[in-house]
Amino acid sequence: MAKLTYYGHAAFQVETEGTHILIDPFLTGNPVARTSADDVPADYILVTHGHSDHVGDTVAIAQRTGAVAVSNAEIAHWLSRQGVETHAMHIGGGYHFPFGYAKMTQALHGSELPDGSYGGNPGGFLLKLKEGKTLYFAGDTGLFGDMRLIGDEGLDLAVIPIGDNFTMGPDDALRAVEFLRPKTVMPMHFDTFELIAQNVAAWKARVEALSQAEVLLLNVNGSAQI
Ligand code: NI
Ligand code: MN
Repeated sequence: MAKLTYYGHAAFQVETEGTHILIDPFLTGNPVARTSADDVPADYILVTHGHSDHVGDTVAIAQRTGAVAVSNAEIAHWLSRQGVETHAMHIGGGYHFPFGYAKMTQALHGSELPDGSYGGNPGGFLLKLKEGKTLYFAGDTGLFGDMRLIGDEGLDLAVIPIGDNFTMGPDDALRAVEFLRPKTVMPMHFDTFELIAQNVAAWKARVEALSQAEVLLLNVNGSAQI
């Protein structure tokens, strides 16, 4: 069983067979986070795109833990120039890591890095864990029809944005669930700031009325077995 922990906004940790995989670890300056970048364990840090609310504390955490940062080539090079050990990949490509296969997926969004550097194209991650679970972290994205292809992979869990304004809103996220057909879906990228406030209970009810997916809602620092 893998363990999923939610740190708030779009920051997660997946623990699988003793390996800690952080995703978009925005902790410092995250108004809802209750975990310090000084405490969080990491072996790998997956960065979906260059925005500061996703790159977050990647450099500090990688420097403290020696974790390998995994991202597109442009972001990997930017991190590597700051002394971070990196694994560069790109959209459509995957690699067999010790914990399983990780593939970068497309996302409809931007990717400028915090200092204005070019961050390449934004993405998401499809993780086929060695222990047998398939997880999809969409990253910040608008709805796209090829989510159906990602759904063909057979998803145990899909983590998708619902906040609107910068990403899909609740209506498009509902269509995303239809395309992705996950066993479980977890909404993210909402309620962090007023601009992306959403009624998540209402969205959960709509998903459960229209699909087979179970909706996972975690409090900040909450965990679930997946
Ligand atoms: Ni973004
Ligand atoms: Mn974002």
